[in-house]
Amino acid sequence: MQKLLIKGKKELFGKISISGSKNATLPILAATILSEKVKLKNIPLVKDIFTMVELLKFIGLKINILKKKNIIEINHTNKMVKTLAPYKLVKTMRAGVLVLGPLLTKYKKAKISLPGGCAIGTRPVNLHLFALKKLGAKIKIKNGYIIAEAKNGLKGANIFFPSISVGATENAILGAFNANGKTILNNCAIEPEIKDLIKFLNKLGGKIKIVGRKILITGLKKIKKSVEHEVIFDRIELGTYMVAAALIGKKIIFSKIDSKIIHNEINVLKKMGVKIKTKSSSIEISKSNRIKKINLSTNPYPGFPTDLQAQIMVLMTRAKGVSKIKESIFENRFMHVPELKRMGANIEIKNKTAIVTGPSNLTGAEVMATDLRASVSLVLAGLVADNRTIINRIYHLDRGYELLEKKLKNCNARIKRI
Ligand code: UD1
Repeated sequence: MQKLLIKGKKELFGKISISGSKNATLPILAATILSEKVKLKNIPLVKDIFTMVELLKFIGLKINILKKKNIIEINHTNKMVKTLAPYKLVKTMRAGVLVLGPLLTKYKKAKISLPGGCAIGTRPVNLHLFALKKLGAKIKIKNGYIIAEAKNGLKGANIFFPSISVGATENAILGAFNANGKTILNNCAIEPEIKDLIKFLNKLGGKIKIVGRKILITGLKKIKKSVEHEVIFDRIELGTYMVAAALIGKKIIFSKIDSKIIHNEINVLKKMGVKIKTKSSSIEISKSNRIKKINLSTNPYPGFPTDLQAQIMVLMTRAKGVSKIKESIFENRFMHVPELKRMGANIEIKNKTAIVTGPSNLTGAEVMATDLRASVSLVLAGLVADNRTIINRIYHLDRGYELLEKKLKNCNARIKRI
């Protein structure tokens, strides 16, 4: 099994080019079921994307990946499709459930494996099913599968989500996209990745608008045959490397981004004493001498993202005094804490809040990655720790970070895969 080996305390400098967003690409790939010919640019070549491509190929789409250009071409003129997402393709990547909305829209039926729990929580799909039922789908659960049908097609509806969910909002948009009549989705997630999905669907001929936390969708009949779309940058990848720069950067410039989208994260880092210069499409972080404590809570966008909770916690270990971060989205997302403690961090968990007392001098250790973002927090800790850190189970990292070692090595990090 592969491991990452990091020799810490090497000051980082240089440029990091940010990849396309994994979490935007996944629903857009699912949406290509609705189309005929699509060219997607700025695709991150990470494991979750390849799993989604496998799923779409299984369904019957023809897909060509131009790896050197980060482009995916999709051809969906094949009439022979399977409206099925099998367990083996959904269990490793929960976003597989996003094909439910498009399959119901286009083929009026779908059989999708229930994704099950994962390291960070139980992660049910009840809100996805709730919205699709409101749009007229008949749904039952049998033998671990969601069996859904909409014999006469889906119908527009006024839906109020009892709580905010990214995936459920996406599945509802995909279901309402070509429904008969108007749909109003209330209390929606409005993450930038959802806005990118909407941008893509509107290119396809959709009529979708966001007003606050409402999404208004006019169902349509005619879908464009050929579309091109460039996926937005990965704000979580950017946030991760911004924390690396704050921890041990001399000067790092990030390019291919839109700083407006992450102004909240920039403000958090500034409050923590990180030196940041912002332009519209680049950010520069220079050496920060004193990191300050902060109290944070994760929240749906535009709040602080749960996907950056583990990373910012590593920065909190460098701050003088007591910092706190409350995890409000997932019930079990502190799996990195015991590993960070083994590296010398002083962290206590009370209810949903991690209390971090600093500054701690982190020291290298052999640690275990448990999920995507927890794994990358251990990489960040390894970069700033004394001596050598060995990270096991790094397949989690490969699910979501494109060219992680290369990007860090180019900035002087001592990191290698063995
Ligand atoms: C997406 C992101 C993930 C991020 C998360 C929250 C992708 C591929 N993944 O995951 O990286 O951490 O948003 O920003 O985009 N819930 C229910 N019922 C449901 C659906 C969700 O109770 O039917 C709960 C979840 O258990 C969780 C909360 O709602 O506690 C938010 O989850 P959700 O926003 O749906 O996350 P994902 O779409 O799975």
